[in-house]
Amino acid sequence: MTLIAPSILSADFGNLERDVRGIAANGADLVHVDVMDGLFVPNITIGIPVVRALKKISPLPLDVHLMIDRPVRYVEEFCRAGADYLTIHVEADEPENTLAALRRVRELGKKSGLSLRPGTPAEAVRPFLAECDLVLVMTVEPGFGGQKFMAGQMEKLQTLRAWRDLICPGCLLEVDGGVDLTTGPVCRVSGAQVLVTGSAYFKAENKISFVKDLRQ
Ligand code: DX5
Ligand code: ZN
Repeated sequence: MTLIAPSILSADFGNLERDVRGIAANGADLVHVDVMDGLFVPNITIGIPVVRALKKISPLPLDVHLMIDRPVRYVEEFCRAGADYLTIHVEADEPENTLAALRRVRELGKKSGLSLRPGTPAEAVRPFLAECDLVLVMTVEPGFGGQKFMAGQMEKLQTLRAWRDLICPGCLLEVDGGVDLTTGPVCRVSGAQVLVTGSAYFKAENKISFVKDLRQ
């Protein structure tokens, strides 16, 4: 079964509790939280105190996507704040720090995730797969919601699905960026197990049907 993870990047930040509770009430599986530092990506969103507050009110696990430079500096704080899945970017630091960060997340009892930008080849994450509980394939350039889905990433997704089945069968393969009712099925047939959806979910008139249809 495909898991659905609505991204609060497109939520109404003035009504975050309502929207986060809505994500659970509408039948989704995870709450996707996009953390940006203005360095790794040209946008700034939310940080540790907001994750802590979300943890108190979210009925669903928090799927925290760190788009920050040298994430090893902050993984412990995000885990302690309440991230259930904590995903870092492979481009954000040197390999030894990436390894240390992934291991630290697991030591803290949380699920470790590794993401890659559209321009980064699948090979970049291969050495880390045994340390991952989740691999996140970006189908837009990270930084903003509402961008166009990059279908060219599907080949990479298929490669990663094959490696995942071989190397880390317990690991989840997630897609993020431009996922809607047209592009979601394309991701599913290419091997995605978790679909992040920001603008399409929040724009949907009937969110219960949207989640159900995207899951199929
Ligand atoms: C982009 C974020 C995404 C974003 C997805 O950098 O990582 O999670 O919220 O939004 P949509 O679904 O609108 O592309
Ligand atoms: Zn994201």
